[in-house]
Amino acid sequence: MTRTLIVGSGFIGRAVAARLTTAGEHAVLASRRAPAARTAAPWVSLDATDGTSCARVVDQVRPDRIVLVHGPSDVTWCEAAPERAIALHTAVAAHLTAAAPGARTVLISTDNVFDGRSPANDESTPTAPANAYGRAKLAAEEIVCEAADSTVLRVSLVYGWEDSESGKWLNFFSACAHPLRRGESVEAPFDQWTTPVLVQDVAAVTAAVLHAEAPPLLHLGGPDRISRAAWAEAVADGLGLPRTQVVRVPKAGGRYANRPTNTCLTSHLLGDFLHDRGLRVRGVDEGIRTLLEVTE
Ligand SMILES: NC(=O)c1ccc[n+]([C@@H]2O[C@H](COP(=O)([O-])OP(=O)(O)OC[C@H]3O[C@@H](n4cnc5c(N)ncnc54)[C@H](OP(=O)(O)O)[C@@H]3O)[C@@H](O)[C@H]2O)c1
Repeated sequence: MTRTLIVGSGFIGRAVAARLTTAGEHAVLASRRAPAARTAAPWVSLDATDGTSCARVVDQVRPDRIVLVHGPSDVTWCEAAPERAIALHTAVAAHLTAAAPGARTVLISTDNVFDGRSPANDESTPTAPANAYGRAKLAAEEIVCEAADSTVLRVSLVYGWEDSESGKWLNFFSACAHPLRRGESVEAPFDQWTTPVLVQDVAAVTAAVLHAEAPPLLHLGGPDRISRAAWAEAVADGLGLPRTQVVRVPKAGGRYANRPTNTCLTSHLLGDFLHDRGLRVRGVDEGIRTLLEVTE
């Protein structure tokens, strides 16, 4: 049985672990702190910025495949500490590719490697990072690309139900759905555009990329290009709540001020990749319906 080491046991890492274990595969999650909630796969302690620890965990897990899906992913934090952000992301990529040179390695990267001026960025679009986070992820991409068997999977904004100890949600769907349900209003920019992808679809595509002959670079964006305001209104619609709970604001000066105007991905490869593997990426309305059918 193949063994997958998932570095990062956060929102996306845990979904990838669930997808793999549901398919009967062996996966191990790794991060510095144990996840608060129960996970689908066993967890090991790892600070992946430490080369010796990476070598120890690789020796222990003996992975055939590695998914790099770790932080820091907070755009604001990276902007405040740009050198540190690059150092952390490049260290993890370098340590894991060196510790397991024979493993197939998949890096989950981001649309922030583009400056956000264009509504469409496919695999042939030249990179021009929007911010320190994008520069750090691009630097990690360059290291992973050099590995013998690797894919960089650039993913657009990911959404789904999310555990939160603090009552703050990082992904936009959860950050809208919870306050809207409590009858509160949410502010959402009308001028920041995304191609959101359901976290379960990200996990399914990641699992497929791990298995199959995949291109070395693949973009994964949802089929809908939508503003955050329209997306928040779609969440309100799904909950049967009035759209007036969504307050349309400009992105300037607000929570998403340092996001590019477009955090959107297109692809000239994804359609065939999904078709050949019987996969589908859901649009926003279907994604919201799917999430509201299950309890968080
Ligand atoms: N969420 C999105 O919309 C999105 C979109 C595109 C790409 N991505 C990429 O996907 C990755 C994960 O995103 P996410 O939303 O799942 O983030 P997340 O929920 O914040 O999870 C990040 C995970 O990385 C771990 N981590 C951080 N530093 C580490 C280190 N030095 N060694 C080992 N583990 C470490 C964290 O745990 P500890 O702090 O306990 O170590 C946590 O488990 C990021 O790299 C991001 O660039 C995310």
